[in-house]
Amino acid sequence: MAKTKIKVKLGTLPKEPCEIGALYLFEDAPLSPIAEALDKALDGAISSLIKKGEFKPGVNRSYLLHTYGKVPVKRLLLEGLGKEKEFSPDKLRQATGMAAHEARYLGLKDLTLSLHPTVLNDVSKTSQSIVEGALLGLYRFERFKHPEEPEEKKELESVILLVEDAKQLEAAKEGARRGEIISEATCFTRDLVNLPPNEATPAMLARTAKEMAMELGLKFKAWRGLDALEKLGMGGIVSVGRGSSNPSQFVTLEYGRKGRGDTIALVGKGVTFDSGGISLKPWKDMDKMKGDMAGAAAVLGTIRALAKLKIPLHVIGLLPLAENMPSGTASRPGDIITCLGGKTVEIITTDAEGRLIVADALAYALRYKPKAIIDLATLTGACVVALGNFASGLLGNNEELKKRLKEAGEASRERVWELPLWDEYDELMKSDIADMKNAGPGVAGAIVATCFLKKFVEGYPWVHLDIAGTAWADKNGPYWREGGTGVGVRLLVELLSNWTEFASDK
Ligand code: BES
Ligand code: MN
Ligand code: ZN
Repeated sequence: MAKTKIKVKLGTLPKEPCEIGALYLFEDAPLSPIAEALDKALDGAISSLIKKGEFKPGVNRSYLLHTYGKVPVKRLLLEGLGKEKEFSPDKLRQATGMAAHEARYLGLKDLTLSLHPTVLNDVSKTSQSIVEGALLGLYRFERFKHPEEPEEKKELESVILLVEDAKQLEAAKEGARRGEIISEATCFTRDLVNLPPNEATPAMLARTAKEMAMELGLKFKAWRGLDALEKLGMGGIVSVGRGSSNPSQFVTLEYGRKGRGDTIALVGKGVTFDSGGISLKPWKDMDKMKGDMAGAAAVLGTIRALAKLKIPLHVIGLLPLAENMPSGTASRPGDIITCLGGKTVEIITTDAEGRLIVADALAYALRYKPKAIIDLATLTGACVVALGNFASGLLGNNEELKKRLKEAGEASRERVWELPLWDEYDELMKSDIADMKNAGPGVAGAIVATCFLKKFVEGYPWVHLDIAGTAWADKNGPYWREGGTGVGVRLLVELLSNWTEFASDK
């Protein structure tokens, strides 16, 4: 598939000869100078549409207007931004996602946009949001689908961003480049999540990490198969992958080097298919469990973006990769296993497999003596019950790290919401015959799962993100499609590109 090009150049929409231009409008503010110029040239067409109530520029509302030679722009897409006071970069991302989608649907080759005048105080961020909206909005996963409808074959060749003031051109270009890198990495993550589980096996994800390492000059290391993992002491990964004929792997991917900025460890749950194992899941929505490696995919996407952006940090990606299947060799409820570091775990249900593999990887992460550890995992259905699709669950043992993630969540619009991690909850996973159980009585499921993980990072600043509800979209949105969302990439790139030296308080 041809990639949509982003071009940033000097110009202004009212004077730009092009097929289609998007014009952002607020619901409750006077027309911007650009909108006013266009309105005038179009004999008041825009203002009268709004005045008559035929078009109300609310969020995610748009209107297509032909200009019949009155201006060099052949068509105008009016894109609502909602109320001016409620404006955020995400509104721009949404409006642009819709516009890009519409322009492609119409079969046009390019879409022209103006940097929105009211947010020009941060040109770079504005252009980044616009580019993200366009490129994320144009995403589709088409590897396995033969196009049926003509619009499925259409491609938008370029998105052109017009900058009025020459002094702002460099900042606009810089923001656009960031937007391109982040969007590409997000779509890379989305692709991995959307791939079917017969393709996206542990071996395939490890190969993907290796290819990325060669492309971007990262250090790659892998432990393949049960023997190697057993020798390493990773009883969790061994146990989860036992029943599958696709052998488990543990992969580390290292960007930068020790001493070049803080060392950050990123752990991503990589269950390439979660059938539940012997504690088999019901059939309904079991297909979605191909997305149970979204944490690992997000770590790959994040490191991809960080490397391309040349962020001055030392980042280790740790990917425990396994397929959770029932078979004669599978682990059973009742088994006791030993995770890396020596803690023993009584398996109550083989469907609480994520915490077992993430625990091994967290324990391994300590060897790097990281300043901060962040893990991403589609860990619990309970988190989906608590927060739905609108926020990832956030739990952790360090206030400063939690605060930074919350801020990055707001800025990137990949929002997080904190759940408590009080020691009282530890009760719920006590075992009589092992150090702990892998599941509690069923209450506070997202918290109990995190209490389990907490035991493996003692003494280190750590945050866990439960992305079970956010990694997968059930329906299309302004800049995402049904399927993998790529959640985590925007959040972590935002966090780590603004990272300042971390003085851990514990
Ligand atoms: N991968 C699932 C969690 C999940 C559920 C992710 C829905 C995405 C959407 C996880 O491995 C799991 O099965 N968790 C169990 C734990 C329980 C058995 C303690 C759950 O949440 O039901
Ligand atoms: Mn499970
Ligand atoms: Zn799972």
